[in-house]
Amino acid sequence: MNVPFLDLARYLPGEKERLSLAAERVLSRGRFVLGPEVEAFEQEFAAFVGAAYAVGVANGTDAITLGLTALGIRAGDEVLTVSMTCAPTATGILRAGATPVFVDVSDEDLTMDPALLEEALTEATRAIVPVHLYGRPAAMEELRSFASAHGLALFEDCAQAHGTRLAGRGAGTFGNGASWSFYPTKNLGAIGDGGAVTTDDPEIAARLKRLRLYGYATRNDSQELGWNSRLDELQAAFLRERLALLPQANARRAAIAARYDAALMGAVRTPRTPREDQVDAHHLYVVRVPDRDAFRARLAERGVGTDVHYPRAVHEQQAFASLPGLSLPVTEAASAEVVSLPCYPMLRDDEVDAIIDAIL
Ligand SMILES: Cc1ncc(COP(=O)(O)O)c(C=O)c1O
Repeated sequence: MNVPFLDLARYLPGEKERLSLAAERVLSRGRFVLGPEVEAFEQEFAAFVGAAYAVGVANGTDAITLGLTALGIRAGDEVLTVSMTCAPTATGILRAGATPVFVDVSDEDLTMDPALLEEALTEATRAIVPVHLYGRPAAMEELRSFASAHGLALFEDCAQAHGTRLAGRGAGTFGNGASWSFYPTKNLGAIGDGGAVTTDDPEIAARLKRLRLYGYATRNDSQELGWNSRLDELQAAFLRERLALLPQANARRAAIAARYDAALMGAVRTPRTPREDQVDAHHLYVVRVPDRDAFRARLAERGVGTDVHYPRAVHEQQAFASLPGLSLPVTEAASAEVVSLPCYPMLRDDEVDAIIDAIL
């Protein structure tokens, strides 16, 4: 059997037809950027997240940059974040003018370790940007207490967390705002690029709407220096259809993850069993093995595709090498061991069984 790590040409029942109809709707209307589909999607997505506002932007990296800028983060500010993430978390912070300061992650969940924040704090610290890596919630209760005790903004990178919940709240509702990516591989993916910022603050939402469109307060009147970071109507229309299917898609991811958990526990290091009040979006199913290259090669021989998220921590990549970082031993050790197994809604049970067989 040949099981690809990810196959985006597979669709849920009825999904392709819904997407085609959505495209038709946009083509017939003739409005292509920031129109009624974007507005409707923003409302529907805000309701899904449990936030008052969602503002659509061009991608998840811009969502971090514009989100932090709207919160008042600027040059000279330091932002505590993690290196155990995809590079754009740091890119987004740097593009806002601020300096990311990397904090190590907990060995159990590979999300920001709140116990390490104190030593990273300086006079210049203004915000914390945790990442819900692989769809697993970061320790938001502790991070929130720390942020409020020190007067810091809390901004969640939710690129991998569409549907993640903790203690009765959705990811994206713990702090001052959150960034979302709709890159096609995400749990909620467009047919191209897209992103959003969610927030409960009407002033931040209004500022985001200016920042994404040349800083315009009204047409042809730039109140501040902005960007061109707009969500287009086709992507918004596709995202509306996919948002309706997201609970079903996430439930299927959870079922696949449960199958892996039951079969693989003990054979490889599987993700920690979640807390009772924790809902994992299962964006990626990541195990840890000491001999990763050999493990991946043997699975490849058996036709099983795998991937690595991420082979090099952010601070180990050239563009970020000069940034301040504390010692990051957990991040560095985990980066050498993590392997992502196929985990997407249209993966079949017989394929999951074949992957499990191959691993065992
Ligand atoms: C954790 C994380 N943050 C930010 C991003 C950036 O999103 P985008 O690719 O839409 O710019 C991604 C996705 O690639 C991501 O995984």
